[in-house]
Amino acid sequence: MNTTATATAATASATVARARTVERVVAGQATQDGAGVKLTRVLTHDLQRRLDPFLLLDAFGTDNPGDYIAGFPDHPHRGFETVTYMLEGRMRHRDSAGHEGLLGPGGVQWMTAGRGVIHSEMPEQQEGRLEGFQLWLNLPAAAKMRDPWYRDIPTAEIAQVQTPEGVLVRVIAGTSHGTAGAMQRETTEPLYLDLQLPAQARFEQPLPEGHNALVYVYRGELAIGAQAVPRQRMAILANTAGSDGVRLEAGPDGARALLIAGRPLHEPIAQYGPFVMNTNEQIFQAVEDYRAGRLA
Ligand code: CO
Repeated sequence: MNTTATATAATASATVARARTVERVVAGQATQDGAGVKLTRVLTHDLQRRLDPFLLLDAFGTDNPGDYIAGFPDHPHRGFETVTYMLEGRMRHRDSAGHEGLLGPGGVQWMTAGRGVIHSEMPEQQEGRLEGFQLWLNLPAAAKMRDPWYRDIPTAEIAQVQTPEGVLVRVIAGTSHGTAGAMQRETTEPLYLDLQLPAQARFEQPLPEGHNALVYVYRGELAIGAQAVPRQRMAILANTAGSDGVRLEAGPDGARALLIAGRPLHEPIAQYGPFVMNTNEQIFQAVEDYRAGRLA
């Protein structure tokens, strides 16, 4: 489990015949969360329906300890999953289900809050760069009250595949170019790829047309069809009827980007802060359970 083999895709990736276009390019909002961690909320509340089953995507990246040192002290969650992907720096996780883990560069922490956990996510460093992402993946109604679950996936256990064009794909969830990621989920079938594209390299990924999909560029620049997507922008991909995937092309300096897609749940979304349920009554119950100490 401790050796990352980088597979090489056997054939050119000409698998996409009718590529999706970009519906919209989004800049996100600068905000703070936790005890004052500065971050950019890329997938904001108003996009939850559009990007169902994804509820939130935060990007954080700073060399200034003052922007992150306070971390995310104890706070509850219920009704969904959090996926934290570190590029640089270290965060320590502790939760009320008894899990503890240290998330390091290139690693992923996948936490299913289910019926509830209280956890903290604190920087394990006093200085240096902290950079990464947190994605919230919704749970179907039938699974919102399941037992909490947790997995640390160190960088060495993240599957990688290199395409003939030299694109390095880290497969966090789902499958790309014949390589399955560490995480699979039945109902929403999430795909979570971290792509490293050399200058001008192309990359194709099949996507079911009904799945909602986004691309977040965090280094360099890329093009999706005729649409340029600069650094620190999210492209929402159109669910074009008859489309079969997405085609990206890196700019002259190459690019790094996240490609995230999943099957929408089409269920009502009721959110109050860290609780995401289907109805207001369930939200009131979550708040009541938290206050009564029933989430721990
Ligand atoms: Co949290």
